[in-house]
Amino acid sequence: MDSIGPVGLQQREGAPSCSQEGLPYPSDSSELVLECLQQFKVTRTQLQQIQANLLGSMEQALAGQVSPAPAVRMLPTYVGSTPHGTEQGDFLVLELGATGASLRVLWVTLMGTEGHRMEPRSQEFVIPPEVMLGPGQQLFDFAAHCLSEFLDALPVSTQDLQLGFSFSFPCHQTGLDRSTLISWTKGFRCSGVEGHDVVQLLRDAIKRQGAYNIDVVAVVNDTVGTMMGCEPGVGPCEVGLVVDTGTNACYMEEARHVAVLDEDRGRVCVSVEWGSFGDDEALGPVLTTFDHSLDQESLNPGAQRFEKMIGGLYLGELVRLVLAHLAQRGVLFGGRTSPALLSRGSILLEHVAEMEDPLAGAARVHAILQDLGLSVGASEAELVQYVCAAILTRAARLCAAALAAVLSHLQHSREQQMLQIAVATGGRVFERYPSFLSILQETVKLLVPECDVSFIPSVDGGGRGVAMVTAVAARMAAHRRLLEETLAPFRLNHEQLAAVQAQMQEAMAKGLRGEASSLRMLPTYVRATPDGSERGDFLALDLGGTNFRVLLVRVTAGGVQITNQVYSIPECVAQGSGQQLFDHIVDCIVDFQQKQGLSGQSLPLGFTFSFPCRQLGLDQGILLNWTKGFSASDCEGQDVVCLLREAIRRRQAVKLNVVAIVNDTVGTMMSCGYEDPRCEVGLIVGTGTNACYMEELRNVAGVAGDYGHMCINMEWGAFGDDGSLGLLRTSFDANVDQASINPGKQSFEKMISGMYLGEIVRHILLHLTSLGVLFRGQQTQRLQTRDIFKTKFLSEIESDSLALRQVRAILEDLGLPLTSDDALMVLEVCQAVSQRAAQLCGAGVAAVVEKIRENRGLDELTISVGVDGTLYKLHPHFSGLVAATVRELAPRCAVTFLQSEDGSGKGAALVTAVACRLAQMDHV
Ligand code: G6P
Ligand code: BGC
Ligand code: BGC
Repeated sequence: MDSIGPVGLQQREGAPSCSQEGLPYPSDSSELVLECLQQFKVTRTQLQQIQANLLGSMEQALAGQVSPAPAVRMLPTYVGSTPHGTEQGDFLVLELGATGASLRVLWVTLMGTEGHRMEPRSQEFVIPPEVMLGPGQQLFDFAAHCLSEFLDALPVSTQDLQLGFSFSFPCHQTGLDRSTLISWTKGFRCSGVEGHDVVQLLRDAIKRQGAYNIDVVAVVNDTVGTMMGCEPGVGPCEVGLVVDTGTNACYMEEARHVAVLDEDRGRVCVSVEWGSFGDDEALGPVLTTFDHSLDQESLNPGAQRFEKMIGGLYLGELVRLVLAHLAQRGVLFGGRTSPALLSRGSILLEHVAEMEDPLAGAARVHAILQDLGLSVGASEAELVQYVCAAILTRAARLCAAALAAVLSHLQHSREQQMLQIAVATGGRVFERYPSFLSILQETVKLLVPECDVSFIPSVDGGGRGVAMVTAVAARMAAHRRLLEETLAPFRLNHEQLAAVQAQMQEAMAKGLRGEASSLRMLPTYVRATPDGSERGDFLALDLGGTNFRVLLVRVTAGGVQITNQVYSIPECVAQGSGQQLFDHIVDCIVDFQQKQGLSGQSLPLGFTFSFPCRQLGLDQGILLNWTKGFSASDCEGQDVVCLLREAIRRRQAVKLNVVAIVNDTVGTMMSCGYEDPRCEVGLIVGTGTNACYMEELRNVAGVAGDYGHMCINMEWGAFGDDGSLGLLRTSFDANVDQASINPGKQSFEKMISGMYLGEIVRHILLHLTSLGVLFRGQQTQRLQTRDIFKTKFLSEIESDSLALRQVRAILEDLGLPLTSDDALMVLEVCQAVSQRAAQLCGAGVAAVVEKIRENRGLDELTISVGVDGTLYKLHPHFSGLVAATVRELAPRCAVTFLQSEDGSGKGAALVTAVACRLAQMDHV
C-alpha cells in the first residue's frame, strides 16, 4: 500500500505492467511524468506522521493552548446531541460556503419517527464573484434576497419561519445562534465580516429585506449538517466529514475535554477546521512545488495549506499546474501550452474527476484539454489520467490521515479498545470521484485498524442535517423554555425569601405568645448551654433520624468519649404499635448494655426524640404528632418518657434512669455548645428539618420567670401548615404532600428535608417527561415508583467532581433511557430543588438570629449555629447556600455554622449531665 499508483487505472485490463510503485513503465516522457508525480507520493510513514501531528494539534487546541497557536482550531459548535429522530416540522435552510460560488436555500420537512422521508425542496443560486469578494453587507443582502425569491415561489404558510444557517467557514460560536467569523476560506473574501456575528449580519439583512419574518434559530458548519443528516436508523453518525470546495470534519467530543467550554458534562460537536493544518510548516515534507505555487496564487497565501491539497476548489488547479509544468518542459502536448492552460482555475474538480475516470476518462481528457486549446497525443491521455489520479489519490490519503487522527483521539478519549463509529460524508469530491471514498476507507483501515468505521454518505449535502440541528435547536429552545417555566417557581428571589423570613418571625412571636401559629415554639426546659463542669457516664438514645443509636457518653475533665451502636427501626415498627416500638428500643438498649458490659447498671439516660413534643419538664414530653414516616399507634398525645419507662418495666431486670428527653435540634445545639459557648441555635436538615434557639424566658408564655433563657424547639417543619407558604407551594409539593402519610402537615419540612427532596425531583421529572422534554417523553415504570429517586442522588448528581457520565450511570441504574441533554436537565432540576430548600432553610435561620439580635437589642450579633443532618452534611452546595442566604437576609448577624461531629446523642447526655448537676445542687 506504500505506493501512490493511481488506484483507478491499475485495475484496467491490458494496461502495461507497472513499476513496483504500481505505475506502468511508459516511454521516456513518462519517466519525466513519473519523476514529476513522485512528488505526490505520500508514504505510510508520512501519513502516520501527519496523523500524529494533527492529533497533537487537536489536543493542544482542545486544552485551550493559545501560543504557539495549534495548527487546527477545534471549535465547539454548541450542538450537544445527535438527532433523536423525533425532530419534526418545516424548516428553512440557507447554505453558504459549502459549494463555492453558490448558495442554496432549502425547505426541509422533518416527519419525526412516524412519517416517511420528505424530499427537501431546494434552489441553488450562483453567487457573482464580485459578491464573494465585495462588502459583507452585499453578500448577506444577496442571501436574504435569495431567501425571499425562494419563498415567493413556495406555496407554504410563511408564518414563524425557523431558519438554520449552514455557514461553512471557521467561526467562534458562543451559542447555537451566535457565531463570529474567524477568517474567510475557499475563494470568499468579503469585507466587514471577519470578527462579526454572522447570524446578526443575516438577521439584519433579512430585516432590511423585510419580506418575511424569519427566525434564524441556529448556525452550523457544513460538517455538522452532514453529520446530523445521517439517515435515522443508520447512525447516529458521530463524525461529519466534508470534502467539497474545502475540507473539514467535526465529531462529538466529551464537553469536559474542551477547555474553552468549562463544562464538564455532556458532549459537544467540535469542528476541527483541519483545513489550516500545516500552516505551521508541519506539511513541509509532503508539499510539492505545485502546492507552493498554488498557495502563492491563492486569495489566502500561507493559510489553509492542508485544504489546498484536498479541497475540490484546488485539485483542478493542481492538475493544471502539473500539466502546465510538464507541457513547458516539453514532456506533454509537444511542449505547447495554451492561454487557457496557463490561466488559473481553468481546470475544475469536475474535469479532474471525469478525466481520471478509468472507463470514459481518456475520451474526456481529449475533450476537456481540447477546450483548453491543447491537442493531446494518443498515449498522453493516459499520462494526464496519471496526473489526475496521483493528485486525487494523495488528497484521499491525506484526508484519511486527518480522519485517522480524529478517530484515534475518539478511541482514546472514550477509553475503548475497539471504537465502533459511523462517519457521515458529504461534498462533491465524494460525489464526483467515487474512488475517493474507497482510497479513504482503505487508508483509514491501515492507519487505525482498531477502529471499525462505517461511512454513510449524506443524502442531500447536509440540508436535512442543518434542518435537524435547527429542529434540535428549536426543540432544545422549546425544552429549555418548558424547563425554565417548570423550575421558575423554585427560583426564589430576595423579596420572596425576605417575606418567608418575616412570616417566620411573625409566626415565632405568635407561637411564643401561645397564639395560633404554625410554629409551636415548644419550651424544652433546657435553660443553659453546658459550662464544661459536667462529669459522669450517661446513656443516650437518638431516635428520629436516619439511624437509631444507643450511646454511652463519658464526660470527664479531659472531654467527652462516646461509644455508640446504630440499630435499625424497621418501617413496620416505626408504623406499628407504640408498645412494639418502645419494646424494640429497650431491646436495643439491653443489647448495647450487654455489649458494653453495662448490664444491671442504671446510668442516667438522655433521650433524643426528634419529633414535636410539648414538654412539661425536662423528662416529660407529650408527643404532639409523628413526622418523617413514623406513625406508631397509641403514642400521639402520650408522654413518650412514660412510654419508655413502661417498656423498661415490661422488660424486667433492666434498670434505667430516664432523666431528660431532648429534641435533636437541642441535642445538636448542646453538643456544639460544649465546644463553642456562642452556639445558641440548633439546626437539623436531615430526614426532617427543625431548629431550636435560646429565647429570652420573658418572651415564653406559659413558662414562669422573666430572667434567663429557655431553649425553644421551634418545630419549624410545620411552618406554613396554615397556608402561609401557599404562594411558594408548587404542584409538585402538593403531589408529594398528598402522597405522604401526613398530608397537610410539615409543609416547610416537605420543601426542605431529605425525606422529600428526592420525591419532589421525581415528580418534576415525571412532569417534564409528560411534556416530552425528558427521556423522549417515555414514562418508565421505575420513575413512577415512590421514593425511587433518593435525595442522596441529588447530592451525588450535584457534586462538582462528578462527570456527566456518572450522573448518567445513576439515572441508568434507575432504568431511565437518557441522553446527555436529559442528564443535564435532571442536574438542573436537582439544583433548583436543592437550592430552594437551602434558601428557605437560610431564610428560617435568618429569622431566628434576627430574633435573637432584636431580643438583645444589639446592632451586631455574633452567634454560632450547631448543625446536623445528612442533607446538610453531604450535599455539596447546601450548607454554602444556607450561609449565603443568611448573610443576605441577616447582614447584621455574623453567623458561624458548626457541623456537629457526634450527633445529638452527646447533646442529650450533656443535658442529662446539666440536669444531674442542678439536681445535686438542689440536694446539697
Ligand atoms: C444526627 C443526630 C440525630 C438527628 C439526625 C438528623 O444523626 O444525631 O439526632 O436526628 O442527625 O439527620 P438525619 O439525616 O439522620 O435525619
Ligand atoms: C472551512 C470549514 C468548512 C470546510 C468545508 C473550510 O474551508 O473552513 O468551515 O467546513 O471548508 O466546507
Ligand atoms: C421533627 C422535629 C425534628 C426534625 C429533625 C421533624 O420532622 O418534627 O422534631 O427536630 O424532624 O429531625
